[in-house]
Amino acid sequence: MNKYSFISDALEERKNRHLLRSLKSVVPLTGGEVEVNGRRMVNFCSNDYLGLSTHPLLKQRMIEYTESYGAGSTASRLVCGNLNCFDELEARLAKLTGQEGAIVFNSGFQANVSLLPAITDPNTLILSDLLNHNSIIQGSKLSRCHVAPFQHNDLDHLEGILKKSAANYSRRIIVTESIFSMDGDMADIDSLITLSQRYDALLVVDEAHATGVMGKNGMGLSSNKDVDMVMGTFSKAVGAFGAYVSSNSMMRDYIINFCNGFIYTTALPPGVIGAIDAAIELIPQMDKEREKLMANSARLRKGLAEMGYNTGKSATHIIPVIIGDEEEALRLSAWLLENSVLATTFRPPTVPEGQSRIRIAITAAHNDGHVDLLLALFKRWQEIN
Ligand SMILES: Cc1ncc(COP(=O)(O)O)c(C=O)c1O
Repeated sequence: MNKYSFISDALEERKNRHLLRSLKSVVPLTGGEVEVNGRRMVNFCSNDYLGLSTHPLLKQRMIEYTESYGAGSTASRLVCGNLNCFDELEARLAKLTGQEGAIVFNSGFQANVSLLPAITDPNTLILSDLLNHNSIIQGSKLSRCHVAPFQHNDLDHLEGILKKSAANYSRRIIVTESIFSMDGDMADIDSLITLSQRYDALLVVDEAHATGVMGKNGMGLSSNKDVDMVMGTFSKAVGAFGAYVSSNSMMRDYIINFCNGFIYTTALPPGVIGAIDAAIELIPQMDKEREKLMANSARLRKGLAEMGYNTGKSATHIIPVIIGDEEEALRLSAWLLENSVLATTFRPPTVPEGQSRIRIAITAAHNDGHVDLLLALFKRWQEIN
């Protein structure tokens, strides 16, 4: 026993259960492809759903902003990091999402982890969908209030908890993702709004995987709807990095005053704001790319279902192929890699026990040939197993 034993023990335990994670070195290429270990392959893991991360306008504006403002923003927003480009971007985000205000965060993880503690007190109940992302789970833990998980997308269960808890808490907050990151199914935002209003609860929606992809102006399923706080990320379909929270003006003022993850951190680099600015300009007009994304996804889902693969309730560009056993999911992912397809395994604790899966992320950059290749490989896998 030495001071490192807990580390070696934990790693060993993960390894024995086929749950050890490791990093892969990837070289980005365009057109939905990447290079791994010197080999070109089709990438079905990227969250760059619209292909914006390599768009010329994003790169150009990133350079322009860096030239004008410098490489770093030099301080937190409340000190002297509030460069005027932040104000302009936030005004545009508010307008696009149909809210009075918006505020930029340094990442989606940072937003979730700090927003929830800022809006809770010991008399608060957080009602959280059982499949919410780890950042929401960590934010809920840091809130140090009661958390009632409700069954995934089960509005009756949620309403039951809302009814029973009314007398015991002074504040209740419903938190959900709009498109679920591991399952690719969607929350019923309109019904959640109705429940939040009926029971006077705040509604917080994480649009990480819907920003750019769905809803009015392509700004998510709660875009221009009566949701109290909408968190969206710039790290996925927007093709850059960072996040935002849209809300009414009072809530925005509250975040500026009480949210530690906003207050005590240096503002994002100006170049990143430049890339976001360009993406936000492009996204409302990208219906053609969104249609292609949905068509690619529907074709893949249909093909997989016809072969009898379990894709859960996916209805979007995130398509889980649920295998169950960790070792088998790893074997399939390694075989796909040998056959020039990058499709990562997601295992517990990222997904529930017994639900290890290959999570396929389709992008608008994929072509029919890419989808055909993947379907052919899944067919072959069945034949050889
Ligand atoms: C649902 C959800 N929320 C938040 C995040 C964190 O966002 P970011 O990558 O910008 O930190 C992710 C990222 O994986 C996510 O899937």
